[in-house]
Amino acid sequence: MCGIVGYIGFNEATPFLVDGMSKLEYRGYDSAGIAVFDGKRINIEKCVGRLDRLRDKIGAHVPTGTIGIGHTRWATHGRPSDQNSHPHADASGKFAVVHNGIIENYLVIKEDLIAKGHVFLSETDTEVVVHLMAELYNGDFEQTVKKVLKIIEGSYSLVFMCADAPDKLICTKKDNPLVIGLGEGENFIASDIPAIINYTRKNYILSDGEFAVVTKDSVWVEDRDGVPISKKVFEVYWDAEAAEKGGYDHFMLKEIYEQPQAVRATMSSRIAKDESTTIFNELNWVKDDLDNIKKIFIIACGTAYHAGIVGKYYIEQIAKIPVEVDIASEFRYRKPLVDESTLTIVISQSGETSDTLAALKEAKRLGARTLAVTNVVGSSIAREADQVIYTYAGPEIAVASTKAYTTQLAVMLMLAIYMGNIKNVLSSERSKELVHALHILPEQLDELLKDVTNIKEHAYRYKEAKDMFFLGRSLDYAVALEGSLKLKEISYIHAEAYAAGELKHGTLALIVEGVAVIVLATQHDVYEKTLSNIKEVKARDAEVLGIALAGDDSISKYVDHTIFIPKADKYTAPILSVLPLQIFAYYAAVARECDVDKPRNLAKSVTVE
Ligand code: G6P
Repeated sequence: MCGIVGYIGFNEATPFLVDGMSKLEYRGYDSAGIAVFDGKRINIEKCVGRLDRLRDKIGAHVPTGTIGIGHTRWATHGRPSDQNSHPHADASGKFAVVHNGIIENYLVIKEDLIAKGHVFLSETDTEVVVHLMAELYNGDFEQTVKKVLKIIEGSYSLVFMCADAPDKLICTKKDNPLVIGLGEGENFIASDIPAIINYTRKNYILSDGEFAVVTKDSVWVEDRDGVPISKKVFEVYWDAEAAEKGGYDHFMLKEIYEQPQAVRATMSSRIAKDESTTIFNELNWVKDDLDNIKKIFIIACGTAYHAGIVGKYYIEQIAKIPVEVDIASEFRYRKPLVDESTLTIVISQSGETSDTLAALKEAKRLGARTLAVTNVVGSSIAREADQVIYTYAGPEIAVASTKAYTTQLAVMLMLAIYMGNIKNVLSSERSKELVHALHILPEQLDELLKDVTNIKEHAYRYKEAKDMFFLGRSLDYAVALEGSLKLKEISYIHAEAYAAGELKHGTLALIVEGVAVIVLATQHDVYEKTLSNIKEVKARDAEVLGIALAGDDSISKYVDHTIFIPKADKYTAPILSVLPLQIFAYYAAVARECDVDKPRNLAKSVTVE
């Protein structure tokens, strides 16, 4: 996720570009840059770090010109650095490009361009776009962009500028947002409305595949087949602060709704074209690498720890390697039995959590191989581990983690399939089934989010609850842990999660008339057992809310209320069933007038022990 902006008009471009980027820092903030055409050439200023560093760098020498583009980056391909910052330019400086998304086939294109003599300055996927422009340019800016778009695959929103055509910007999008703000004698381009809301309230919201040529007085839009479109103007009535949250009341809600896209981005380029397996080019493991691993430790804190518990089920059941899951602050001091035959996987959204980093260092000291799963490129944990898998969730602002968790689960499942196939312990039929289940997951997440009224009503109904219990077996238990954490951290309702079969060994004493219990029942192999546990709590007059798969006709006979999730494979079910729990926690917190995005006593990134 990155933020992009563009300006063409009668005013100086730089002030708008920098101001617009400041409103998009929630989309990324590890580096920033602008490109402005001064009448003769395109001048680029960019640097690693927050936007303020760019402001300092520019100082009094603000690039002048009335057409320009800008970018605030959240690194995916290539660590945060001056060279990897956008905009990118070709060798002649004729073209400049800003990009949000992932060009999946960039390596093939890059090799081809290098063979043709192009010299790359960055490690980014984006740079191929601008070199392709130079390679294919025949004097016609628009036609060249169209040729480039035929070659690149992946997800993108892109803005192009060309020194030969300083009266226009060209932009397009696929699976990433882009809006065009309509002014008088000037027009604006941005990843999101907050960047332009102070300049105009009239916008065109581009759809996938649309191609727009923007001049200061006009906006020409074509669909993917080149047919001109007359776009409907979208008028924004939100205030600037609401706009930053995309019209959502809180970042947490926005991030909940970003999950289909976050999971899609995390999976993109990691699923084989024939859907037979998953791919991790960043690991490049062969059978020997895995045969040497006798045990895996997964180490993390908070929500990431819960993702680790799901990961244990995935890896043990699919790749047949024993896994232990540890809370990072415990692992560091418990003198774990780790050696060279151990693989340690640390999971961390921020990549900076002090306990997780220390546990990683301890595992390394003991001789383990290490792998990090993190959302932040170039973070301390990413740098410390031997190998890294990035989740592409984009920046997560709300303290309560949502999209980071679901992308971590997607990575753990893809990793288990990858390992299972390398080790030859996963049948090709089951592998295909699992990859297909992953493939349809973003649409299922979308479907689930289409109507959450039912979940919201339940949350409001339970808002006065003093205690809540979350039960489940197997993977449902792992998700129950996360559901309970979500509820307590943002609504301050006391919540506990139990393996459903364990309740009778003590906690059942707390189940009395009216106590609220949420039971997850999405796992077929333990379904009947879960029903028995539901009967146990119903017999004590608890009020039970069940989470079940669509098409489950029996559940309603046992519970008081049901929330259905789309029918899914047992391994993708956790990535779906957590959503109702996130939404439930969110609305319970709203109903109790809690500070959802900044819960009391908590912090997003805990860099102290
Ligand atoms: C804090 C956050 C949690 C997060 C945990 C681990 O406690 O409030 O939401 O799960 O840290 O963070 P990490 O960045 O390592 O995933």
